[in-house]
Amino acid sequence: MKIGFFDSGLGGITVLSEALRRLPNENFVYLADTLHVPYGTKTPQEVCGYVKASVQTILKEDVKALVIACNTATSIAVAELRNEYHIPIIGMEPAVKPAVEMNRANGKRVLVLATPLTLKQSGYAALVSRVDDHGSVDSLPLPELVHYCEQLNFDRTEMAEYFNCKLAAFDLDLYGTVVLGCTHYPFYKEILKGLLPSHIQLIDGSQGTVRRLKQVLSDRNLLASPAKTGQSQEGHITFLCTSQDADYVHKMERALEIYAEHEKI
Ligand code: SIN
Repeated sequence: MKIGFFDSGLGGITVLSEALRRLPNENFVYLADTLHVPYGTKTPQEVCGYVKASVQTILKEDVKALVIACNTATSIAVAELRNEYHIPIIGMEPAVKPAVEMNRANGKRVLVLATPLTLKQSGYAALVSRVDDHGSVDSLPLPELVHYCEQLNFDRTEMAEYFNCKLAAFDLDLYGTVVLGCTHYPFYKEILKGLLPSHIQLIDGSQGTVRRLKQVLSDRNLLASPAKTGQSQEGHITFLCTSQDADYVHKMERALEIYAEHEKI
């Protein structure tokens, strides 16, 4: 059986990449909702419908656990999905809690970058009020970044111009951590690191999500091991997209290569 990964587009590949490292004996199926990407600028009702339809599609693939590798989809639909299906469903959460803890002693602020829809959800407000007892968390929506990522646009000059313009209103010396609260954004980690003051740390939710995935599989005795499968098929990935576009499947493979190279730096 496979582990399912779902995202609106290419963003979940940043989480899949972490899973490939941590769960080398597993096989994966990744579905991108290319008919409806981006989610972050749509209404909650629209996104909820798209996520439910996509989850029905991916669950036809002999899936033992599902990762909703998209912060926007998680914030809108994960509770309903968990009520509807009995397989483990792991979602994304902006890494606000570890970011606040990292800065508790130094008094620095935290900046959360995410889609407009994620930042508007009551779940996000509840998370911040639960973990941020000093009012030290700010947020910035970056909807255009999903579009750039979907175009595989990693042009340093263009992106530097974009980030500098978006960040111009912030006194970055006041911040200790920037949270990447959309799975598309880690593709821009290196570019951002080059632009931000060197004391600022960047964090995203993929490590926490994959740790949780591994724990859930282990608790249910669902982890694959070479001895159990007896096959040399481990690490195989099936890429699917809702528009059934072969070019997009190549784009997903290319995005995984780009991200893996980028992670080695
Ligand atoms: C998007 O489709 O707008 C990005 C979704 C996300 O990862 O939050």
